[in-house]
Amino acid sequence: MNAVTAVLIAFWTMLPAYVPNNAAVLAGGGRPIDGGRTWRDGKRLLGDGKTWRGTLVGTLAGAALALVLNATAPAVSGALGVSLPRFPPAVMLALPFGAMLGDILASFIKRRSGRERGAAFPLLDQLDFVVVALALAAVAAPGWFRDTFTLPVVLVVLVLTPVLHVLTNGVAYLLGLKDEPW
Ligand code: CTP
Ligand code: MG
Repeated sequence: MNAVTAVLIAFWTMLPAYVPNNAAVLAGGGRPIDGGRTWRDGKRLLGDGKTWRGTLVGTLAGAALALVLNATAPAVSGALGVSLPRFPPAVMLALPFGAMLGDILASFIKRRSGRERGAAFPLLDQLDFVVVALALAAVAAPGWFRDTFTLPVVLVVLVLTPVLHVLTNGVAYLLGLKDEPW
């Protein structure tokens, strides 16, 4: 597999995991998942940045995008000359929900390490959602996962994701959608 092919497959396949966080920024608000509760250390369990609405809308946005990608995969594959994967139904949910769950787990870790809502945690911020999205996809459809996430594709995902994350969050910050650029 050449590098361009690996980048195209990695980007395409991870789109349903990339979009949820951005959708949550736009849709977030309302009741926090932790309901305001604190952990034994007296700090918030997750914080006000993880809401039910953001999580639900983020997950649905990623799943809806997977539907669109599946419908357009044949045409786009033909146009690019690259065989893009189609998402099995379980993966359409596993990728976006895994992304949201990874972000939520990261907030739990951030709060335990004493970081307030919005504080930066380099690498955790950029890769939390990838790791859990991939793990859930692997559980949801092991055969599809092995065929799709070959070593070159996984390597591209690990390099490409932090770059895209920094770029999109930077843009969201400049547009005033996000309070911090990470
Ligand atoms: N958001 C949400 N629900 C989620 C994830 C995000 O509502 N499950 C919304 C919140 O409005 C949040 C914003 O998206 O403030 C930005 O997300 P993120 O950077 O992940 O949250 P932070 O506010 O920075 O909080 P944390 O320090 O816990 O990451
Ligand atoms: Mg943040």
